[in-house]
Amino acid sequence: MNTILTIETTCDETAAAVVARNHNVLSSMIASQQEVHERFRGVVPELAARAHLERIAPVIASVIADSGIDPEHDLAAVAVAIEPGLPGSLLVGLSAAKALCVAWNKPLVSINHVQAHIYACQIGRTESIFPCVGFVVSGGHTNLYRCHSANRWQYLGGTIDDAVGEAFDKVAVMLGLPYPGGPHISRLAKLGNPKAYDLPRPMVSDRSTQNLSFSGLKTAVRYHLVGTGKQDFQSLVLTDTQRADMAASFQRAAIDCVTAKAQLALESSGLRRLCVGGGVAANEELRRSLQAMADRQKFELLISPLELCTDNAVMGAIAWEKVDLGDFSALDIDVQPGLLRGE
Ligand code: KG4
Ligand code: ZN
Repeated sequence: MNTILTIETTCDETAAAVVARNHNVLSSMIASQQEVHERFRGVVPELAARAHLERIAPVIASVIADSGIDPEHDLAAVAVAIEPGLPGSLLVGLSAAKALCVAWNKPLVSINHVQAHIYACQIGRTESIFPCVGFVVSGGHTNLYRCHSANRWQYLGGTIDDAVGEAFDKVAVMLGLPYPGGPHISRLAKLGNPKAYDLPRPMVSDRSTQNLSFSGLKTAVRYHLVGTGKQDFQSLVLTDTQRADMAASFQRAAIDCVTAKAQLALESSGLRRLCVGGGVAANEELRRSLQAMADRQKFELLISPLELCTDNAVMGAIAWEKVDLGDFSALDIDVQPGLLRGE
């Protein structure tokens, strides 16, 4: 009973892992749906749910086989992300988890996906990351938490419109880059001048709130590129220099927003440790900027290991924190697609 099976189907990756109590990963698999969604330049929820349905059983069978465990004998629980996420996608993972709990007579543990992103910073570390300010920067979320312990979180603020990763993806579309656009913007930005375009840093100067906003920044990119009228981005002709300069200018502005609110959250909470997770935490320039800030201001910075930034099931190791408390979910539990902002 020293392993758990973790299942992740909140958005467009079908993932499962077998993780030991000490966070040793016995097996892990991520079945990407990139080829399903890339021609739409964004995730299509109905297609995501159907793709999960095709992939979920083979992915789970694979990780169980690769781990070498006997699930009935070796599993302490089956854990699954039930919030937040796309409703249809969440339902596939939860249904699979419930069926396995019945078949193997195991308790069910529910995982909050956003908390799991931040908990990725705990993997591979022996000392606890708590208490800390937790910051999730992903395609679906950009939220700050005061994390008292693995099971006690307080919402501090977050985006009031687009998530930062969503802004990366939408600007990438304007620049003619493939989906998901974050890694492509990051590569292109290395060739550009971050000061070439004067872009806004929405809400950064407002120190009364830890909320963020990215839609104005995204719209400013659009106006710089095509003006205020309607324009089809596919017919937009940009030079390589313009594209690289815009990628660099946008990335710099987005990072300035993230680092400013991280700093504000640390100051107002009085905490001296920042844990950052989620897909955008893979961004090299963001990692560098956060590290520079941590060095300057002498707080401890933990960023998710690169391979655990984007969606995966290993970060579902947070479920151990509930297993150890006997905090299990009933088998009639439902998914919770929206983000709960309270404690
Ligand atoms: O955490 P994740 O896999 O999914 C959500 O829970 O939303 O994050 C995916 C997001 C996408 O928007 C993707 O463009 C962004 O993370 N991303 C990046 C980078 N790698 C992934 N954004 C900026 N720079 C990167 N290197
Ligand atoms: Zn995620």
